[in-house]
Amino acid sequence: MNYKIEITKVNKSRLSEIDFDKIPFGQTFSDHMFSADYINGEWTNLKIIPFSNLSLSPVNLALHYGQSIFEGMKASKMTDGTPALLRPEMHVRRLNASAQRLCMPDFPEDLFLQALHELVGMEAGWIPQKEGSALYIRPLMFAMDEKLGVAVSESYKFLIVTGPVGPYYPKPVKLLADTEYIRAAHGGVGEAKTAGNYAASLYPARLAMQKGYDQILWLDAKEFKYVQEVGTMNIFFVINGKVITPATTGTILKGITRDMSIQILRDKGYEVEERLISIQEIVEAHMDGSLQEAFGTGTAAVVSNVELIAYDGVDMPMPSIETYKVAHLLKSEINGMRSGEVEDRFGWVVPVKRETAKV
Ligand code: COI
Repeated sequence: MNYKIEITKVNKSRLSEIDFDKIPFGQTFSDHMFSADYINGEWTNLKIIPFSNLSLSPVNLALHYGQSIFEGMKASKMTDGTPALLRPEMHVRRLNASAQRLCMPDFPEDLFLQALHELVGMEAGWIPQKEGSALYIRPLMFAMDEKLGVAVSESYKFLIVTGPVGPYYPKPVKLLADTEYIRAAHGGVGEAKTAGNYAASLYPARLAMQKGYDQILWLDAKEFKYVQEVGTMNIFFVINGKVITPATTGTILKGITRDMSIQILRDKGYEVEERLISIQEIVEAHMDGSLQEAFGTGTAAVVSNVELIAYDGVDMPMPSIETYKVAHLLKSEINGMRSGEVEDRFGWVVPVKRETAKV
């Protein structure tokens, strides 16, 4: 289906004010955003408008009870200048899986893709060219009903905002495997990309930062025994040449970069296991010298190296980052596919086509 998306352009772009050499993650936003409203059971008011503040009721349901979900994607420029997306259909499917868990309506896949192509096409000038930088794309959906009873909202807003970003973690991270706080329990919302998961991580992350670590390595909620994820990314280890990552069994976000990493590595002949990984296994591999790499994967993080893991009062420094082979390979494969320098063997790269919107 071809949707009618109304476009209102800014009078003057802010692009010339941007210093592309200094773009910390998530602090600069492009000129336009896509907006849609869910009213009376259908998505309507489809428009691209200047990036601007919203007007919300103080009794907006999302503000009180957290019916709010989002995605994280990136657009980059291929070497011939064409803007490209990576697996956009996976993101809308994951958005809709989150929506289902939070009792929110599906966003039509074809509308999502049309809006994305149109918006990213318009904002192509905002895509940084520098290696490690990209145009970050943040689709989000939240409740719009105005009332205080705990209830499923009947109206929603869906937005896509974009902005140029540099690396999320400019240097390798130090992780604390927490044995007091949890991210997600079986039956909860750990697999959904919902605001509350991130809110719940803030206090433990602050405590970890006060102790000199960058992020939490979450353990399972029942026994504090099995490794889960790092809140902003999925986690991988290389032990004796074998790549292992926790299986996604309901409490871990189904990362799209995680999925790509597994496919790329298997294609390259690596053995990759998705399974339960106990923190004790990591401690033992560290002690006997077989732990070769630890790194995280995510849209924002891409592939971010881990420098140290702390557990049970002991800091375990990882091997020197210079010796990391798997993380390095993944980063150059993913960035190379984005730029077109590495062959897209999996059909993941989607060049942006602007041909659909009505002005
Ligand atoms: C992403 O990787 O895009 C995320 O959404 C993680 C984080 C920035 C919240």
